[in-house]
Amino acid sequence: MILLVVNVILFCLYASICLCSSQGTINPPEKVSAVLAFGDSFLDPGNNDYITTPLKANFLPYGKDFMGGKPTGRFSNGKNIGDFFAEGLGVKEYLPAFLDPSLQENDLLTGVSFASGGSGYDPLTSTVSAAIPILDQLNLFKQYIGNLTRIVGEEAVTNIMKNSVSVVCSSTNDLVISLPARSVLIDVPTYDRMLVNLTLNFIQELYKLGARKIVVFSAPPTGCLPIERTLNGGILRMCDQKENEAAQLYNNMVKEQLPVLASSLPKSRIALVDFYNPLINIINNPQQYGFQVVNRGCCGTGLVEVSFLCNRLSPTCPDDTKYFFWDSFHLTEIGCNIFVNQTLPSLVNSLF
Ligand SMILES: *[C@@H]1O[C@H](CO)[C@@H](O)[C@H](O)[C@H]1NC(C)=O
Ligand SMILES: *[C@@H]1O[C@H](CO)[C@@H](O)[C@H](O)[C@H]1NC(C)=O
Ligand SMILES: *[C@@H]1O[C@H](CO)[C@@H](O)[C@H](O)[C@H]1NC(C)=O
Repeated sequence: MILLVVNVILFCLYASICLCSSQGTINPPEKVSAVLAFGDSFLDPGNNDYITTPLKANFLPYGKDFMGGKPTGRFSNGKNIGDFFAEGLGVKEYLPAFLDPSLQENDLLTGVSFASGGSGYDPLTSTVSAAIPILDQLNLFKQYIGNLTRIVGEEAVTNIMKNSVSVVCSSTNDLVISLPARSVLIDVPTYDRMLVNLTLNFIQELYKLGARKIVVFSAPPTGCLPIERTLNGGILRMCDQKENEAAQLYNNMVKEQLPVLASSLPKSRIALVDFYNPLINIINNPQQYGFQVVNRGCCGTGLVEVSFLCNRLSPTCPDDTKYFFWDSFHLTEIGCNIFVNQTLPSLVNSLF
């Protein structure tokens, strides 16, 4: 046992990753130059507004609490997880979409999001949802580096990259959309292994393009998303335990393999964000966090409405600060805020 503890400590010291969960300060010890986001709707501030996909959120009631009622394409009533990361790391209050044609040079310097609602690590996922595939998001990242280089020059770009934080959240749609589709042919452990492989490959490619501090989201308890309760939870709309188990298996494998990858990437700092336990804790103890409703969204009936099904015709709940979920898939602004607040201290410890 002691040997194991010593090994873990040594591992944290030697490998460029530390999954320790001790409390730390939210103020990063070094200034973060930019935040870059990749993945799915939890981090998409409106890239999907500019592509052909049914998965959009640029109409009310989305954004009803954003800058006084402005739908932007964020899948939330207000700010999303990417915004709270950018704010919490001391960079800026809003993380803009890279595809937004009104972006200014200054917006580029402090980071953008390449994420696209409906995307996943599995190519099948973005095919089904017509989202920007995560590897294409890397091509946008290359374009971004080109833009930056023209603005500030190569040396400054190297410095920006060195002090930037890349945030990756991308497994949710794989587990919700592609796993059921593929499970006719392959079992859950095989799919999870494939997903871990795709995750690690993506991180490796991101590193090759210059990212050094990388934050990787685990999978959330997908079986407790309101839509999954409706589809698979029976008449009582319980969490789909099989789905949660698939998410946990993926998470355990990523947790084991990410440090191995990190130790092979010089000067990398790769941190896994637990997107599972904080959510399940809130879902199991809502009052402790000030929530009254955690099993359905605020938009419409809250049972199925997401994206185009949550629209101007959907009535919304009277007080969205009492709801953890905004629609049947995504967190409310307050839900995002509480999650990021819980996450940042230990994250900052492992990134710096
Ligand atoms: C980035 O550069 C590309 C050309 O490579 C250009 O089309 C695009 O408008 C630029 N984007 C921004 C936000 O400046
Ligand atoms: C993923 O799987 C491929 C093919 O099996 C293998 O060549 C590659 O090394 C794996 N990648 C990682 C990062 O494990
Ligand atoms: C999150 O943390 C910030 C900074 O400490 C604080 O101002 C804010 O009220 C917190 N938000 C929530 C919902 O707890």
